[in-house]
Amino acid sequence: MGILSRHSRRPSFLPRYVIFFAFLFLALLLFFEVDNLISQTKTIVGHNLEPTPWHVFPAKSFDEESTVSKASKIIGCSYLSCPSHVTIPQNSNSASKSKTSESKTCPEFFRSIRYDLEPWTKSRISMNHVMEAQKFAAFRVVIVGGKLFVDFYYACVQSRAMFTIWGILQLLRRYPGKVPDVDLMFDCMDKPIINRTEHSSMPLPLFRYCTTPHHFDIPFPDWSFWGWSEINIRPWEEEFKSIKEGSKSRSWIRKIPVAYWKGNPDVVSPIRTELLNCNDTQMWRAQIMRQDWAEEAKVGFEKSKLSKQCNHRYKIYAEGYAWSVSLKYILACGSLPLIISPQYQDFFSRGLIPKKNYWPIPPFELCPSIKAAVDWGNANPSEAEAIGKAGQDFMESLSIDRIYDYMYHLISEYAKLQDFVPVQPPSALEICIDSVLCFADDKQKQFLKRSIAFPSPGSPCSLSR
Ligand SMILES: *[C@@H]1O[C@H](CO)[C@@H](O)[C@H](O)[C@H]1NC(C)=O
Ligand SMILES: *[C@@H]1O[C@H](CO)[C@@H](O)[C@H](O)[C@H]1NC(C)=O
Repeated sequence: MGILSRHSRRPSFLPRYVIFFAFLFLALLLFFEVDNLISQTKTIVGHNLEPTPWHVFPAKSFDEESTVSKASKIIGCSYLSCPSHVTIPQNSNSASKSKTSESKTCPEFFRSIRYDLEPWTKSRISMNHVMEAQKFAAFRVVIVGGKLFVDFYYACVQSRAMFTIWGILQLLRRYPGKVPDVDLMFDCMDKPIINRTEHSSMPLPLFRYCTTPHHFDIPFPDWSFWGWSEINIRPWEEEFKSIKEGSKSRSWIRKIPVAYWKGNPDVVSPIRTELLNCNDTQMWRAQIMRQDWAEEAKVGFEKSKLSKQCNHRYKIYAEGYAWSVSLKYILACGSLPLIISPQYQDFFSRGLIPKKNYWPIPPFELCPSIKAAVDWGNANPSEAEAIGKAGQDFMESLSIDRIYDYMYHLISEYAKLQDFVPVQPPSALEICIDSVLCFADDKQKQFLKRSIAFPSPGSPCSLSR
């Protein structure tokens, strides 16, 4: 057919220098393309991302990495880590079908999901809602066919994005084939931003770690349930067990009969600043200790172990810049939690009942209020102990499995309101277990691996109607 003859003739049409320049051109093209890709690819650890403008924090530096290692990390982790051939079949929940009928009713506080999504029950959630919410988001989470795609807009503080997204990946592992397709916006900074008054004509759906009754922001479990590697806080299951164990080292009678707080007072929190004035065990029955995380990191976190902070009969909870992740650890102690009237709510705190599983402290007359609570508790030790125990029991019932159930129901109810079919956004990359581990440093890897989830043998708890 003349193939051979054509083939043998070809070199005569392409002089060597043409081939050489063609190669050079291709090599340069490849080089610039790769270079372009490296400088454009936004990553879970914050490459090519600025801090959020609504909460500026020091930009991350990747200076310690050499250019080559940075390039291979960005390309390798972002584009080559997720096996494209593996597709998780949808609705393959045959393993769990048999148990559906016996699934338990969800805890009372799951009712908040309805309240949080109520603003969209009539209007439903349109693509326009999502795109408007993007203005306040650090990243966009899209689940299609059981795969997770994330579009990054801004960097998050420390490893918040990594651990939050890891949690969503674990949800997909826990309930394979069950998590519906969804498209949602997430902000990883502390303060709620979608004011109910200002956005009353068009409520915007934005996920974050906390909310208030005056905001539309939708609360979602914070990253520390999967670990906070920078300050050595382990995944929730491990941390809860060790705090509970530590709390047993002293009986109620042997616990120090004053109120204790240890934390960082320098977080623009008026209540924490005021708390410093109560540091007097004689006058106010309170001991207020400053936590220096930089110093702690140097000495291996020996003095900041949460399991060793349950030696006092009373533990104070004071909000930080917004809500504080410390609430769960304080309740886990089983001491009487003295909660200074919070302005912010996280996904589970709405399930707490005053004088049942904590003692409310009004924000005014702070020191005298703390003293009055301690004096009451010391005069009524069995009542105080019972409330402390109820707080600990509440946290024990909030197992990581329950947290996945909350995430499952929140995402499912949100998905039901979408009036569009979610698709992978062109600029979003797939994120999978391996791509997160690929970006993680050694310490993060340890924490992530310890919080890996396994498929649930049963269905999620059932949301009461
Ligand atoms: C919400 O916006 C209104 C009107 O601008 C303002 O008066 C109110 O203080 C804001 N609420 C919060 C919680 O920021
Ligand atoms: C509170 O008082 C104790 C004991 O006097 C002291 O060791 C501690 O540093 C004080 N805390 C703060 C935050 O100053």
